[in-house]
Amino acid sequence: MISLNDYINQNSDNSDQDKSIFKIISQISDGIIQISKILYAPKNINMFGKEGSKNIHGEKVEKLDLIATNIFLDYFIKSQLISDVICEELDAIKTIDTHSSNKYIIMMDPLDGSSNIDVSVSIGSIFGVWEKESDDFVLRSYTGDKQVMSMYAVYGPNTVIVFAFKNRVCSFILDENTQFVLLNENIELPTNPMYYSTNESNYDNWTDSIKSYVDVLKQDKNLTQRYVGSLVADFHRNLIKGGVFLNPKHKVSNRAKLRLMYEANPLANIIETAGGKSFSNGQETMKLIPENIHQSVSLIMGNSDIVKNLE
Ligand code: AHG
Ligand code: MN
Ligand code: MN
Repeated sequence: MISLNDYINQNSDNSDQDKSIFKIISQISDGIIQISKILYAPKNINMFGKEGSKNIHGEKVEKLDLIATNIFLDYFIKSQLISDVICEELDAIKTIDTHSSNKYIIMMDPLDGSSNIDVSVSIGSIFGVWEKESDDFVLRSYTGDKQVMSMYAVYGPNTVIVFAFKNRVCSFILDENTQFVLLNENIELPTNPMYYSTNESNYDNWTDSIKSYVDVLKQDKNLTQRYVGSLVADFHRNLIKGGVFLNPKHKVSNRAKLRLMYEANPLANIIETAGGKSFSNGQETMKLIPENIHQSVSLIMGNSDIVKNLE
């Protein structure tokens, strides 16, 4: 068994960047352990449910959205590595410390799939880490392809973390002693994809090109459909088993649901490091120039031979 700490000791080249990023991975994983402990303890059931307010996206905030935000923020404040945080649940950029050693920026969805919390379906947390480009924060500079590290956790039948760093995708599972142990140190997408995943109840709201694409996927006898409705869970399944995930634009509003900075970009980095592709708004997700911190984009990602750049 190789623990996350062993893995870090074996794989860090002792450069400043390795030391910093592995420390960030370690702190995020400690936050994930805290959230797992809350989720898997019946006495904490009062921490579930709606908080009462709505976030900047007009969505009802769950108590756990805020608990998770604060857990991760506490670690980032202590880290002395993070300058700013962009978070789904925070309207504006949160500046932590502009001291020169605090040279990383984190974009996070602290709790993804919150509508699934109350029904015991897998949920997750997503993070993208960028090196700070300049003293003034200029969002346009933070395209997805400049991410140094991307990471997510899936809280399902067990808690698994996956991160892309140094051109490899690794996964770890939380064991009975609340320690992460190595599952796979080099995840690559399988060559024969199994699934297509999308919310087909939106079919009538899709553009014709998306409709025909999904019609073709349905005819493919090698594929079957799976859809959880928690992005992380849908992504993780398709990363391990192969497939394509779509969250297209609504053709009337010309808007999509998922967020570029803390959902699409981190997962695009992970899927591309594992050999796949990701497209948003008609181009490679990670090449999109961000326009605002909460920008939403269309998302089509998965195995290179079945994903298509359609909108
Ligand atoms: P969040 O709970 O962070 O707001 O995200 C919910 C998202 C994402 O997890 C999922 O893929 C998507 O909403 C589901 O969208 P549909 O309701 O269109 O299926
Ligand atoms: Mn989300
Ligand atoms: Mn969320």
